[in-house]
Amino acid sequence: MAVRKIVRLGHPALRSRSEAVTPEELASASLQELIDDLLATVVEAEGVGLAAPQVGVNLQIFVYESEPQTEREPGRYEAVINPSVEPESEELEYDWEGCLSIPDLRGLVPRHPEVRLFGLDRHGAPIDRLLAGFTARVVQHEFDHLHGVIYLDRMRDLHSLTYEDEFEALLDEAEQAGESSAVG
Ligand code: NI
Repeated sequence: MAVRKIVRLGHPALRSRSEAVTPEELASASLQELIDDLLATVVEAEGVGLAAPQVGVNLQIFVYESEPQTEREPGRYEAVINPSVEPESEELEYDWEGCLSIPDLRGLVPRHPEVRLFGLDRHGAPIDRLLAGFTARVVQHEFDHLHGVIYLDRMRDLHSLTYEDEFEALLDEAEQAGESSAVG
């Protein structure tokens, strides 16, 4: 298990479409190592999600925090291979996002509050999860990375775009309003 370098905006992998993973590839030692490395890297970066293009690999794989950390236990992360994400309704909600490949910035992004996530786990078994709120937001963000889309593309306007240290003051107000922030 190794922590890999997270590439930043400007690296072509972030703007390329990722290839689906074949069953043979998924079973290979190098791909299982990539999944281990994605898990190690997202934990090290204290992110809630990380997609393979963010370590320069254009394959349809992301990891996300499926069980958020509590005061007693660290978060649990799940790898998803060849994912698809289907919104449960047309509804959109705005909340703050950041991206490990676009350090120090935050912006308000509309996302579907409930989605269904399909794909394969690292052993090739099917995944079918109904996700809501924060976790639904994270998987939409990570899914976008597999199609060369970043959260800035999803912002309806850039007025909320803010540096993290300026954002801290905003967040204090937002926390009182029950808002949260996702970084992946
Ligand atoms: Ni991201």
